[in-house]
Amino acid sequence: MLSAIKETSDYLKNNYQLEVDTAIILGTGLGGLVKEIEIEASIPYEEIPNFPVSTVEGHAGRLIKGKIAGKPILAMQGRFHYYEGYNMSEVTFPVRVFKFLGVKNLIVSNASGGMNPDFVVGDVMIITDHINHFPEHPLRGKNMDVFGPRFPDMSEVYCKKYVDLAGAVAAEKKIDVKYGVYVGTQGPTFETPAEYGMFRILGGDAVGMSTVPEVIVAHHAGIKCFAISIITDMGIPETIEEVSHEEVQKVAIAAEPKLTAIVKGVVAGIGRK
Ligand code: HPA
Repeated sequence: MLSAIKETSDYLKNNYQLEVDTAIILGTGLGGLVKEIEIEASIPYEEIPNFPVSTVEGHAGRLIKGKIAGKPILAMQGRFHYYEGYNMSEVTFPVRVFKFLGVKNLIVSNASGGMNPDFVVGDVMIITDHINHFPEHPLRGKNMDVFGPRFPDMSEVYCKKYVDLAGAVAAEKKIDVKYGVYVGTQGPTFETPAEYGMFRILGGDAVGMSTVPEVIVAHHAGIKCFAISIITDMGIPETIEEVSHEEVQKVAIAAEPKLTAIVKGVVAGIGRK
């Protein structure tokens, strides 16, 4: 495992001089951010040794090297979901490669179902915390000491500084944002009304099928995390409506400009005192 991570990061360093501070994982229908990247290299996953290949509709599989707001970044266009059948070490493999490439900040976006009654479809939610409801933990197994400790602290997984920075960027651009707890669950089914109700009782504001594994692995490795979600449907048991992947994509694409503006502002502000 460690040798595969090293082989992949060495390949990217040697062939693309890939060594950056900030990596971005672009989620469902959030490809709009790509238009903001001054692209220097676009590397198909198939070309990268040991990299899994994305299968789900709407997710291209490319690693993009470039600049946003003049800052060097690395973006994953297409991520690996647990529901696709990848195991946890495959889902989180790119994050470990990022660590070996020198990444210190990880920005993740996703789509989710809202459970907080104050939310509406199309809202943007800055993730302040999560509940890990995946059936398997990404750090299960022998600890990889080069990345971090056996029993990682989880008191501030979503860097408060970046949450505040994103809030300030949103206020400046007059974008309304919500804040909340993201429940990560395996999918691929959306939730039943009873399940949305349960996740709400447990303390969740939104539920989705990604992000938590990658963020746990990043946090374990000392990478600062920022995550943001588009509320693509509402899971209030009494008023629930049918939801489809197509509807999720449609709402996510419509909300793209808001998310793009916030992430661009966050990238620009990272590292600033
Ligand atoms: N549940 C789980 N994942 C999702 C949802 C949802 O309602 N919406 C978008 N991704």
